[in-house]
Amino acid sequence: MAKNPLHTKLCDMLEIEFPIIAFTHCKDVVEAVVNAGGFAVLGEAMHTPDEIAADIKWIRNKVGNKPFGIDLVLPASVPPTGDLDELRKKIPQEQMDFWLDMKKRHNIPEPKGQIDLHQWGGLNKEIARSQLDVLLDEKVPVICSGLGNPAFILKDAHEKGIKVFGLVGKARQAKKEAEAGVDAIIAQGYDAAGHTGPVGTLSIVPECVAVAGDTPIIAAGGITHGKHLAASLCLGAVGVWTGTLWLASREGDNDMIIKDRLINSTADDTVYSDCISGFPMRVLDCTWTKEWRDDKAPKVLGAPYQMLLSSDYIQAANDHRREDLMTEAAGQGVRFIESMKPSRQIVLDMVEEALEVFENLTGMEAF
Ligand SMILES: Cc1cc2nc3c(=O)[nH]c(=O)nc-3n(C[C@H](O)[C@H](O)[C@H](O)COP(=O)(O)O)c2cc1C
Repeated sequence: MAKNPLHTKLCDMLEIEFPIIAFTHCKDVVEAVVNAGGFAVLGEAMHTPDEIAADIKWIRNKVGNKPFGIDLVLPASVPPTGDLDELRKKIPQEQMDFWLDMKKRHNIPEPKGQIDLHQWGGLNKEIARSQLDVLLDEKVPVICSGLGNPAFILKDAHEKGIKVFGLVGKARQAKKEAEAGVDAIIAQGYDAAGHTGPVGTLSIVPECVAVAGDTPIIAAGGITHGKHLAASLCLGAVGVWTGTLWLASREGDNDMIIKDRLINSTADDTVYSDCISGFPMRVLDCTWTKEWRDDKAPKVLGAPYQMLLSSDYIQAANDHRREDLMTEAAGQGVRFIESMKPSRQIVLDMVEEALEVFENLTGMEAF
């Protein structure tokens, strides 16, 4: 009998059935994916240490002993300390005036509540460290760093039996992280939602495989179908890391306006820009991204200052459900988000689709 092509080194490392990792901000998606035989990582970069501890407890209640991960951002290039109000005062007048003028022209209201950004780990190093300490105290099975080299936490994490994954957009970062001893590397291509580098998924994955030695590489960026999973394994990856795939899922907590938009979008409805956070990222095109593309737009600020500007816009758009303003991170694979499926179904469909590719290629039943 042929070997099951979907049983990879990642399945053994994480004791999972399918080499599919969901990155999500929604705990219900984590529960569904983990209980369906995949692996899930909860993005907690915007949460307080207490919230993170409570979420870890919630997940443990739902998945028992099955492993899961928590993702933070640990960027090196942000100030050591400083709260939102202090940082806001440093926004140059030119950019502030541009935003205030945009606000007037598009009749953008004030956000209803406090800006979520207060606790963003990308704001300053102190916040990121306090978030990280919870993950170490709680001994979460896997810590992922979405931004920044996690080498500095390896010793503490490994002593507690925690695995550490790093997410990279360039092969030289993968080499550095592999040499430092991370347990796996997510090679994320330009196709991806959110912060990402300029190298396409088809190139970055085998480049990272070539330089990472024995460190397993997980493919990310534009992966929304079993064909992408099969292709990623052919490129030498041990599994896939997916974000956009879960945004319109039944459990996903995105607004229905965004779910509808994702279901009706294709790759060219997404744009790659640094105007949201100061780092290049891929999102659904919106008023904010269009405005910053205009010839009259000022220079985009660095992190975290650009994020301070955009957070008012994003939160107002969401709080008031302004369809003309709302946006979300979305990858180029968005074309294959075709309906609001339960997350468990998404996992199983991706597995079926990938097995079908292998069967068609080899003319044999996959396993
Ligand atoms: C809505 C959304 C928010 C994201 N936020 C983060 C984040 O906070 N930290 C992180 O490491 N990655 C974040 N990402 C990127 C994902 O981890 C993942 O690398 C990316 O979604 C992969 O590309 P894909 O969406 O095309 O599958 C986000 C992705 C999405 C869709």
